[in-house]
Amino acid sequence: MPSSGALDPRMAEAAEIAARTTPTPFYLTSEAKIATAASHLEAAFPDPWVRSYSLKADPLPAIVRLLNDRGWGANCVSLGEISAARSAGVPNSQITLEGIGKGPEEFDAAIAAAADGAPFRWVAIESLDEARALIAAVHAHKARLSTPIRVLLRLNPSIEPGTHAGLAVGRGSSKFGSDLAELTAAARLIAVDGAGIELIGIHLHAGSQLRDLKEWQTAVERSLAAYAELVREGLIREATHQERGTLCVGGGEPVALYGGDDPAAQARAFRTAADAAWNGASGPVPLVRAIEPGRALVAAGTCLVARVLHVRERVEVVSGPLALQGASESRCERQVILDAGMGELIRPALYGARHPVLPLSPHGEPTRLSSVHGPICESTDALGAHELPDGIARGDLLAIAGAGAYADAMWSPYNGRPRPARMLLTGTSVTTIRLRMS
Ligand code: LLP
Repeated sequence: MPSSGALDPRMAEAAEIAARTTPTPFYLTSEAKIATAASHLEAAFPDPWVRSYSLKADPLPAIVRLLNDRGWGANCVSLGEISAARSAGVPNSQITLEGIGKGPEEFDAAIAAAADGAPFRWVAIESLDEARALIAAVHAHKARLSTPIRVLLRLNPSIEPGTHAGLAVGRGSSKFGSDLAELTAAARLIAVDGAGIELIGIHLHAGSQLRDLKEWQTAVERSLAAYAELVREGLIREATHQERGTLCVGGGEPVALYGGDDPAAQARAFRTAADAAWNGASGPVPLVRAIEPGRALVAAGTCLVARVLHVRERVEVVSGPLALQGASESRCERQVILDAGMGELIRPALYGARHPVLPLSPHGEPTRLSSVHGPICESTDALGAHELPDGIARGDLLAIAGAGAYADAMWSPYNGRPRPARMLLTGTSVTTIRLRMS
């Protein structure tokens, strides 16, 4: 990740060149940075680990293709993401379907794929009710499926994930996944009534930006215990268990927007925790092990390039998570309003996430504490307190770093704003991978 100081020189140069012809704001992605991030996870989770990219972080087909070319499958939550994966050339055998919001369209896509003899790699089921709905959808499909729909059941591991409350999906009270009793009931139902459905294992995702690896390891241990229980009950068949018994441990590897983390070591630490869980398991263990990160693959590779719209002398005290790094509040004497904000990067408004704001125009050292805002008619459209050069003025370029995950993916047209262009830096050349859409 870039530190708070400056943007990588190649990215900075590419941003300036692209800004001559492309209206700001736009997203600029470095292919090399995505490759580096992917290589850390590939080294920590080499074959035969199954590696899927969670498209929810950034479903742009050009990005999905970069990762698929390296062997990453596509973890999707909707028909829209399935279409994005297909436009990127990902075959069904590398598509996994999960998510709390699957409806008839997603089930139909899974059924159609299985009926064509090219099923998705698996479909993760969230609840007993969802298992019932999938069974009903398969029954309603007149013809026999030529291959079964392979299913994982998502466990709610009931841990304290050690992250922002909004990202702590592994808590027992969250809406995600089933507890062991519900999960077992779903497995029994599939065993009795699930013609055309084959239960192959457990799905886990304990949360995002996970900072507590001990808790995560506990979540993996609970998933392994749930798996063993299903095998013992005969709910995962012997042949399946021997060949395809699966545990997907989800994503959640964190990214530090202000540096300080070693992403390679971090990936290894997750692998070590997973190994410890597998080695400590008693009873049958799944042979197929899978991960599905999003953020750790793409967050660092993209910045959001913006221009200054207004600079105004006005005292504003920024407190809480958007204060200067390490401070509980920052007294800013100046406000800087940019042409990019919560429409293009909602994370500061939604989670109080601080993203580095890095000046690109040459005005010397960033010394003046400024409260940086976006262009939307909402007070929460703020990027927080940042040190910026004294001479910064309307029209100057800045880059907001770490905008590759959950940024463009969560874009909003609020205030009638166009969807920004997407640019890709490959070597030294910059290409448009999505036109600006007004
Ligand atoms: N698998 C499942 C089942 C998930 O729900 C998620 C993320 C992932 C994998 C990928 O997680 P990652 O490796 O990216 O942490 N909008 C929030 C993040 C929401 C994450 C939702 N689920 C943010 O901007 O921080």
